[in-house]
Amino acid sequence: MIDMEDCTFVIFGATGNLSEVKLIPALYGLESAGRLPSGLKIVGFGRREWSDEIWRDKVRSWLGERAGDAEVLERFCQRLFFFRGDLGEESVYPALHDYLLGSGQFSPNLIFYMAIRPADFGVVSRQLGEVGLNREDGGWRRLVIEKPFGYDLESAESLNKRLARDFHERQIFRIDHYLGKGTVQNVLVFRFANLMLEPLWNRNYIDHVQITHSESLGVGGRAGYYDGAGALRDMIQSHLLQLLTLVAMEPPASLDAESLRDEKVKVLRSIRPIPQSAVNAQAFRAQYASGVVDGKKLPGYLEEPDVPKHSVTETYAALKLFIDNWRWRNIPFYLRTGKRMAKSNSMVAIRFKHPPQQLFRETQIEQLKPNWILLNLQPNECIRMEMQVKQQGLELRAETTRLDATYCGINQSQLDAYEALLLDVIEGDHSLFLRYDEVSWAWKVVDPILKVWAMERDFIHTYPSGSWGPPEADRLFVRQSQRWRNTLEDEDP
Ligand code: BG6
Repeated sequence: MIDMEDCTFVIFGATGNLSEVKLIPALYGLESAGRLPSGLKIVGFGRREWSDEIWRDKVRSWLGERAGDAEVLERFCQRLFFFRGDLGEESVYPALHDYLLGSGQFSPNLIFYMAIRPADFGVVSRQLGEVGLNREDGGWRRLVIEKPFGYDLESAESLNKRLARDFHERQIFRIDHYLGKGTVQNVLVFRFANLMLEPLWNRNYIDHVQITHSESLGVGGRAGYYDGAGALRDMIQSHLLQLLTLVAMEPPASLDAESLRDEKVKVLRSIRPIPQSAVNAQAFRAQYASGVVDGKKLPGYLEEPDVPKHSVTETYAALKLFIDNWRWRNIPFYLRTGKRMAKSNSMVAIRFKHPPQQLFRETQIEQLKPNWILLNLQPNECIRMEMQVKQQGLELRAETTRLDATYCGINQSQLDAYEALLLDVIEGDHSLFLRYDEVSWAWKVVDPILKVWAMERDFIHTYPSGSWGPPEADRLFVRQSQRWRNTLEDEDP
């Protein structure tokens, strides 16, 4: 632990969906795990005419059955306070300043959590700066923001300039909740705590890498946000590129936040830029059509509530990237994500090359399958190696055996990703948060694709709901022998 000082957790947008669905449950989870500092208080900032008591009642009803222990729930509710204000009104901020720092009721270590529209990030940070709530006199100040960090490179740049006017980079925590997932962090342990992997972890032995996040759910009630974003921005620019950096990075000088982030940035900077003329060869997009899942007909994206009639927003995106450095040159990294796919699963699949000699050509082993390492992130956390062994019996036949290098299954007692990240904010540990240069380089990778897709708005491929996506995406593969690995169970064909 770095430090566990008392602090005041101010939530802008306290009455909204993010607060209800993610933030409050995560803070409650930390409470019940006994991980919150005793003097931590939570101030909800919102427009509603709520008193502390009404806000506490709301939180009780949000938590519902999740809050199994009445004593823990009451302890948690006693931490809650409500400050009424409209974040667009300048006059609110001096009052907020006095409320937080003038009453002696709250710790002067302040966390400002932006559970609000990204368009308001800059507005709030400016006003906090205006009244001096950014200045670290008598306590620290931290600003937490959620993706999307901009809409493209240009808007990310301008958002960053606005935040940087009032907050130092070391005060800003950009959350990518994927980085809080246990197996994501395990990628680093797996790679750098096991000597036997390092000699193999490069272009000499690895054929290609696949990073897949598939979801069986559709866009649900989020079309308002999603239709303007699409799968490439929503998942690939952020979560999947972060995963790629962990799989591909060099060992950092140490595990401190800056060393880690320096190495991640080096990977992003080494990704071969995609010229606009190559976008169609390196990226593929599609949209889910209706389909039958478990005997039930599900609507296509265009039939979902609030989706514009002729939308060509992609709900599926696949990308082929090359990292031009000594370790990875010419090894394809395939990144893929989709909504309403056959199953929800997230996995990094690393395929090794075939052995150089066809030693078994004259035997019953007609075609030797390559080795794979599968790092499954969810729903099961699992690291698995697939190797070839001889089948029992007199004949020389091979079969795939699977070595589970870690645990499979879901560990309920662990902190979830969100909880782990909130704890890091409270402790001031930046390791799992994005530095601005990471965000900016990730936008540089996808920007040419976004530009071309924004111009080509007359057609988009579709895939049936409940499928593994459009077969046309196979055209990204550089060799015929390459195939998508969808889940742990699904074998190399
Ligand atoms: C979010 C995206 O960042 O990540 C969602 O906006 C996506 O569209 C989600 O569903 C996936 O994360 P998880 O942790 O729910 O698998």
